[in-house]
Amino acid sequence: MGAERNPGAGMKHSPTNPASPARDWAAVLLLPIAFAIPALRRRAWRSFYQLFASADPDAFALMNYGYAGETQPPLDPDQEHERYAYQLYHRVAAAVDLSDRDVLEVGCGRGGGTAYLARRFGPRLVVGIDLAPAAIRLCRERHRGDNLRFEIGDAMALPFPDASFDAVVNVESAFCYPSRAGFYAEVRRVLRDGGHFLYADIFDRGQVGRIETALQRAGFALVEAASINDEVIAACDRDTDRRRALIDRLCRSRLTRTIAYNFAAIPGHFIYRRLAAGRRQYRAYCLRALEKAHAG
Ligand SMILES: C[S@@+](CC[C@H](N)C(=O)[O-])C[C@H]1O[C@@H](n2cnc3c(N)ncnc32)[C@H](O)[C@@H]1O
Repeated sequence: MGAERNPGAGMKHSPTNPASPARDWAAVLLLPIAFAIPALRRRAWRSFYQLFASADPDAFALMNYGYAGETQPPLDPDQEHERYAYQLYHRVAAAVDLSDRDVLEVGCGRGGGTAYLARRFGPRLVVGIDLAPAAIRLCRERHRGDNLRFEIGDAMALPFPDASFDAVVNVESAFCYPSRAGFYAEVRRVLRDGGHFLYADIFDRGQVGRIETALQRAGFALVEAASINDEVIAACDRDTDRRRALIDRLCRSRLTRTIAYNFAAIPGHFIYRRLAAGRRQYRAYCLRALEKAHAG
């Protein structure tokens, strides 16, 4: 997270890193300057996640806030330290039967979730795509399987013909895209009729109604729409020590650490506080692609 090359060189260890609202604000105010300008946003996120992809390959395979619910799927011993992040994938993907299906994951990051889908749910094929070329290089090095492929690709112009997939998975990535409505149209285009869009995302509280209207307009029926805020916050709480230790190891400067604490939703920091206050809503969806004639 907030990766810098040669982690450890000249690194000052930060003993407790207490939350500091003033530092939080300084850090989060810097980012919107790059991200607020639509023409720059895609490039800004791409650069941001290129940095993440260059962090220690052994340190983490997923980059989401996690899910602490009742179901605890079995994991390999080397996945246990990221249990909550895997559980978020499980929560989203277990909504439908993916066995022998063709599955696309958009915004696959470092590929741990894509590899989990390929092994756990028995699909015929899973293709993970991401905008950051360094992330795709890492995915190809780290995750191999007969039913697993990784490609560079933009969510706004999916590099596949119409009706190529039975399911599209998207976990904590669409908040980066220049237009969610444009992305939903692309998902509907690459899905076969009756296919499923399995989707987890974070919204401003007031956005939820508009988002669900946009999903329906793109040609989806809502099979399940759920707030998972409580489970995501519980995962952030329980996973704090690991995230904090990772950030302290990988980020050398105070500023990058503070930005990373925010992005990682460390309790007491900006994004965590907004989630806990309900101003940001984490939601999970299972959507079915309607035949074009029924889409409205
Ligand atoms: C928070 S990470 C989540 C990664 C992964 N889903 C996970 O849970 O570990 C968001 C990912 O979305 C990717 N992303 C951002 N904009 C994108 C776009 N326009 N097209 C494809 N991927 C994009 C980023 O490069 C990053 O890897």
